[in-house]
Amino acid sequence: MVKETARNKKKYACQTCGQVSPKWLGSCPGCGAWNTLVEEPAAPGGRRTGRPLSRHVQDPVPISDISAAQCDSRLQTGMDEMDRVLGGGLVPGGMVLLSGEPGIGKSTLLLQILAGLTSDRRTILYVSGEESLNQIRLRAERLGSIPETLWVAAESDFDRIVEIAEEKSPAVMAVDSVQTISCSDISSAPGSVSQVREATARLMQFAKARDIPVILVGHVTKEGTIAGPRVLEHLVDTVLYFEGDRSHTFRLLRTVKNRYGPTHEIGVFEMSGTGLMEVPNPSEIFLSQRPEPVPGSIIVPCMEGTRPILVEIQSLVSPSHLNMPRRTATGIDNNRLALLVAIMERHLAVPLYDRDIFVNVVGGMKITETAADLGIILAMLSSLNDTPLDRGTAVFGEVGLTGEVRPVSRHDMRLNEVRRLGLRRCIIPVHGSERLTALEALDTVPVKTISEASKVC
Ligand code: TYD
Ligand code: MG
Repeated sequence: MVKETARNKKKYACQTCGQVSPKWLGSCPGCGAWNTLVEEPAAPGGRRTGRPLSRHVQDPVPISDISAAQCDSRLQTGMDEMDRVLGGGLVPGGMVLLSGEPGIGKSTLLLQILAGLTSDRRTILYVSGEESLNQIRLRAERLGSIPETLWVAAESDFDRIVEIAEEKSPAVMAVDSVQTISCSDISSAPGSVSQVREATARLMQFAKARDIPVILVGHVTKEGTIAGPRVLEHLVDTVLYFEGDRSHTFRLLRTVKNRYGPTHEIGVFEMSGTGLMEVPNPSEIFLSQRPEPVPGSIIVPCMEGTRPILVEIQSLVSPSHLNMPRRTATGIDNNRLALLVAIMERHLAVPLYDRDIFVNVVGGMKITETAADLGIILAMLSSLNDTPLDRGTAVFGEVGLTGEVRPVSRHDMRLNEVRRLGLRRCIIPVHGSERLTALEALDTVPVKTISEASKVC
């Protein structure tokens, strides 16, 4: 009888969430999906032999001896929005995962970045497992740039991709997408968790050994049914999410993880007939669509990374004919909305139990910070009372359970942006307002509670 050693021991991995089980199960213990566990060798391809990741075995050195210039030789993509999101550019040996829903514009963005990188006649390699060479050429024509030093290959076999990369030795390599690559020594289908994970790990090894930046595209689906970038986040150095509402032309590039720069940065793009355009002043675009004063609309300065962006929040509060009135939020968290509605009922004494409430952040933006609380409450109140708010007023502040308005971060940057966009007045939390320097042509109205705020707006 063959003795079960750690090497020949079998394991079963869920193809949806990556959960590993020592025996086969009908339903995954991690995500509950049925029939998703597939047998995998414990050490795929026998490659994990304890050898170092890099080809160059290095001895430890004192940190002070490492040259700083060498560490910061970032490659600029030529797109300011992209460079800011990356923390200044691509880092040699760094692996960037560019993820997003199918059709959102990842390949378009990638091709534009790569074209930008060829400015110094650097050799750039673009490997696509999704599109043919003709399709890539057509897309490049549509984007208006056919750089000579951009090499393209339509290939999905991992070993062949590495061969091509070794032959061309590019300054930057991009692979579109991780779901199409297959490592021949792994039996499961391309796109399965084991393939995706192994391909990423090997590409990462390649990037580090050659010291070249690698950009990897990964699809995510709303249901997470395909093995997606979620199982790869811990492997790569930088994770960017490209998102946006497909019915809108705006696309946001968000840093979720960055080993070499800040996270929570966003880059704003607009999808046009000839590719993605950078939007250096997003506030202006979001506000330019504002109609005449209408009930239920308010402007809130939100911080996205290090950048303030003015967004418009709209609300509709209308009589409900349902037993359970609707509470629907787009762009903000539904639970936060439920909480704000409860605070409003209690501390502004307005009955909302028989109202449907809809809240929407205009332009497909998603707000994750609590600074929008006060704005959401005032927008709902304005819709409920059918009285438009002043168009020249912005508002920000977190709202606590007792109806108090609490300070948030970066009051000064938010106020500067409000003034820059030509608004005259801003309702702000009283705490923290004493330290602010007065701004010309901008009235600040500090408030302590939501009931105070409802009287001044
Ligand atoms: P694509 O980059 O192929 O998406 P992904 O790689 O994320 O799957 O983008 C596809 C969409 O972008 C498609 O609906 C067409 C649109 N598009 C434009 O609007 N303008 C353009 O110049 C290009 C190239 C694409
Ligand atoms: Mg694509």
